[in-house]
Amino acid sequence: MSTIKKQELKKVTTHQLQEMKKRGEKIAMLTAYDYSMAKIIDGAGIDIILVGDSASNVMAGNTTTLPITLDQMIYHATSVVKAVNRALVVVDIPFGYYQGSSGEALRSSIRIMKESGGHAVKMEGGAEIKDSVLRILSAGVPVMGHLGLTPQSIYKFGTYSVRAKEETEANKLIEDALLLEECGCFGLVLEKIPATLAKRVAEKLSIPVIGIGAGPDVDGQVLVMQDMLGVNKEFKPRFLRRYADLHSVVTGAVAKYIEDVKAKDFPSEEEKY
Ligand code: KIV
Repeated sequence: MSTIKKQELKKVTTHQLQEMKKRGEKIAMLTAYDYSMAKIIDGAGIDIILVGDSASNVMAGNTTTLPITLDQMIYHATSVVKAVNRALVVVDIPFGYYQGSSGEALRSSIRIMKESGGHAVKMEGGAEIKDSVLRILSAGVPVMGHLGLTPQSIYKFGTYSVRAKEETEANKLIEDALLLEECGCFGLVLEKIPATLAKRVAEKLSIPVIGIGAGPDVDGQVLVMQDMLGVNKEFKPRFLRRYADLHSVVTGAVAKYIEDVKAKDFPSEEEKY
């Protein structure tokens, strides 16, 4: 694409996301971890691409998001950024790279922005990460919050079940959401909480609230792309809608390829030099 054509494309900004919320226009967000898939979903018109630390599960086969490193996140984000012309690219700061101190959080976010070219960072937590959020924002890096089920704390929760069903936890979540907005976060992800609570938070906040397993009454939705494309047959939480059955499509294509190779049907006369 020429430079002029690239400039003509209206890029999604944090300001535009705010405007979308005001207009009541829903925001569509998906994860991507590599160049090829990011190119497809950006071309399809996705608003936000999240280089999520779910890459730890989806790309590396880990059972949690904890093992992924900052270097690995930067590798994924760099590949995604190269493919993207329009979407806002948000990059997760992985576990262990912001909890220690606000200085460490700042250094991690600066590495992400400098080395990958991503547009914003996302962090899990509320009041406990306030200093880090403020320090990162003071350096001019946009921050997205993440509350509810926060997979980096899985060993504290013990399960991936719905969070904030009890009043105390729900009230703490509302307080944290308001705090993150007050700090200056441009958006907030709410994961796996009751739909009524998510609705209350989205109504209270002026920044966009993006839900995953948080019901319809928020400002947008996010899914892990491989989940919504049906790559993994086993993962089927209630909140997941499958838009394709890639597991069957890929299995069928590979089976046919194997059959063709074994039968000496591939390559044909036309497919050789
Ligand atoms: O890492 C991730 O994919 C996420 C989404 C589930 C929001 O944080």
